Amino acid sequence: MQNLTNQAHEICQAILQPGDIAIDATAGNGHDTLFLARIVETNGTVYSFDIQKSAIESTSQRLKQAEMNNVILIQKNHSQIQNSIPEKYHGQVTAAMFNLGYLPGGDKSLITDSSSTISAIEQSLKLLRSGGLLTTLAYTGHPGGQEETDAVNHFLNRLSNKQFSVKLITAQEDHISPPQLFVVQKLLNNSD
Ligand SMILES: C[S@@+](CC[C@H](N)C(=O)[O-])C[C@H]1O[C@@H](n2cnc3c(N)ncnc32)[C@H](O)[C@@H]1O
Repeated sequence: MQNLTNQAHEICQAILQPGDIAIDATAGNGHDTLFLARIVETNGTVYSFDIQKSAIESTSQRLKQAEMNNVILIQKNHSQIQNSIPEKYHGQVTAAMFNLGYLPGGDKSLITDSSSTISAIEQSLKLLRSGGLLTTLAYTGHPGGQEETDAVNHFLNRLSNKQFSVKLITAQEDHISPPQLFVVQKLLNNSD
């Protein structure tokens, strides 16, 4: 059984093409950003956000080592996602990835929080093209993690099922607090 990070990658890989626009809402150490950058290739663009300078630096370093220069790194709260992405790409984004919680190897008290996470997810759903995907990997084991996971679940389950399909994948391993992967596909565009 593969882990949920790999599953999120597989799900996005199935839809992304060279030339696409993608978002990493939580850059962290840059693994997801690099994954997206490699698929969209040099004619595509990844917009990658993190609130922490150290995460942006770590991601930048990873991209440099891989010689990828198709990523716009943005050190901002992801609640600023919509106004940080050029308007010409609104409704054109193929995939948006969220990997919640804290920066591995960093300060564990700096974590994503429900209100900005929900705001960022809501904005990202507007930015997706029809058929586009949003993945959110949520962790329940750290303080506040269960509440954030419940808030994401509650928000996604209230979306119109004409406009979005929502799937929840739970880790199969013997976890006391299993991580959860939410996968949302936009079925119709904002104006349809
Ligand atoms: C689990 S890590 C992300 C892992 C990353 N995707 C990777 O591939 O290495 C979560 C990241 O979310 C960032 N973060 C926390 N709150 C945020 C916010 N409001 N806006 C943007 N990033 C935030 C943290 O700084 C941390 O780096």
